[in-house]
Amino acid sequence: MYNRNMNNNDLKNRDLDVLWHPCTQMKDHETLPLIPIKKAHGVYLEDFEGNSYIDAISSWWVNMFGHTNKYINDKVKEQLDTLEHVILAGFTHEQVVTLSERLVKLTPEGLEKCFYSDNGSSAVEVALKMSYHAHLNDGKKGKSTFVSLTNSYHGETIGALSVGDVELYKDTYEPLLLKTLQTPVPKDMSVEAAREAAKSFEELCKEKSDEISAIIVEPLIQGAGYMHMYNEEFLVLLRDICDRYDVHLIADEVMVGFGRTGELFACKKAGITPDFIVLSKGLTGGYLPLSVVLTTNNIYAKFYCDYNEHKAFLHSHSYTGNALACAAANATLDIFENENIIENNKIKAQYINEKLQKFLDLENVASVRQTGMVGVVELKGYKSEERIGLKVYRYGLKHGVLLRPLGHIIYFMPPYIITNEEIDKMMDVAYEAIKAL
Ligand SMILES: Cc1ncc(COP(=O)(O)O)c(C=O)c1O
Repeated sequence: MYNRNMNNNDLKNRDLDVLWHPCTQMKDHETLPLIPIKKAHGVYLEDFEGNSYIDAISSWWVNMFGHTNKYINDKVKEQLDTLEHVILAGFTHEQVVTLSERLVKLTPEGLEKCFYSDNGSSAVEVALKMSYHAHLNDGKKGKSTFVSLTNSYHGETIGALSVGDVELYKDTYEPLLLKTLQTPVPKDMSVEAAREAAKSFEELCKEKSDEISAIIVEPLIQGAGYMHMYNEEFLVLLRDICDRYDVHLIADEVMVGFGRTGELFACKKAGITPDFIVLSKGLTGGYLPLSVVLTTNNIYAKFYCDYNEHKAFLHSHSYTGNALACAAANATLDIFENENIIENNKIKAQYINEKLQKFLDLENVASVRQTGMVGVVELKGYKSEERIGLKVYRYGLKHGVLLRPLGHIIYFMPPYIITNEEIDKMMDVAYEAIKAL
């Protein structure tokens, strides 16, 4: 029950009695304080003792326009009194139709059909199954292998994990996973690296395209893969190779979608249309779980036939196309449209870029990099056992900023409403944290 006089410790103790947190060695919480959040507004999270924290990672990369955003709140509240949810098989509703019409307009040209689910991993599963099934409906039974990039991350359900390549998440579960192939990600942001990596993929296609259903990539930034970035030329080359070898291109824009790379969608930056685009996270502005796969009419047509031909795509999740989540998504798209967000972000990204350069003064900084609204500081000289990221995390919390480094990678991915003063605070605290190591 809600208790006005509750403090951080009360909730922390109750929590640890009954909860098992994601991506966490729970024993760490014997010494690492769990932070109970009482409320949040804008870029700030506030605990039960009045301490506030700038959410520099948009609460796992989902938040776009701040917490308890008035506009999104109002739209979700309005929807709550109209329709909270309805089964999407055999039924439909206005929010999901409007959202789909808008996504078809906003995503790269040629993506015309929307298939919903409720988180990034399940949408990746949808795209993989749809790709395989589309080939099967075309009579190509052997195309059952998926290719992904080295160092990739696509979620943690069995199929999504199978196309991932980050040891930390994958190694333990290896015996459970689908057999997949990995082709090298471009080693840096140069055009040469993009060309070299594309050449490797083409070699693989030459040898195995009869078996390959699709290649799945995180366009431009590999998020959980230590914020590795590459040149958009790679996507252009992949598109061409996929066309020539009858391999689908799946763009997993779960993290990079909705403006993180500086354009609304990373594929638009590269000027390509994938066969499938996977969206989640920022789709609802960070409010409610929702994901969607968009594909072409060409793919859709392969499933469209009389019932007894058994070609329908049989995949469903109970909360598919939830009306509240769609209302939050429509409100999020309203803000993108009405407030010229992508253009304004260019100015903010430039400011972040200037601030990043200062980190190069520090001896333990190897390099800095940036794509759009994602800034990265890479540290050098530490071993993984030193848990250097955890030290930066602790320092950040003590000084009012939620940073959540990926090992030796300190990154900034704040909500787009962050002001220059808040950027100063976020990056100054990170600077001091790194200096104090
Ligand atoms: C690129 C990418 N794909 C898929 C996922 C999985 O999304 P979810 O955590 O909603 O299952 C993530 C999550 O971080 C991601 O970054």
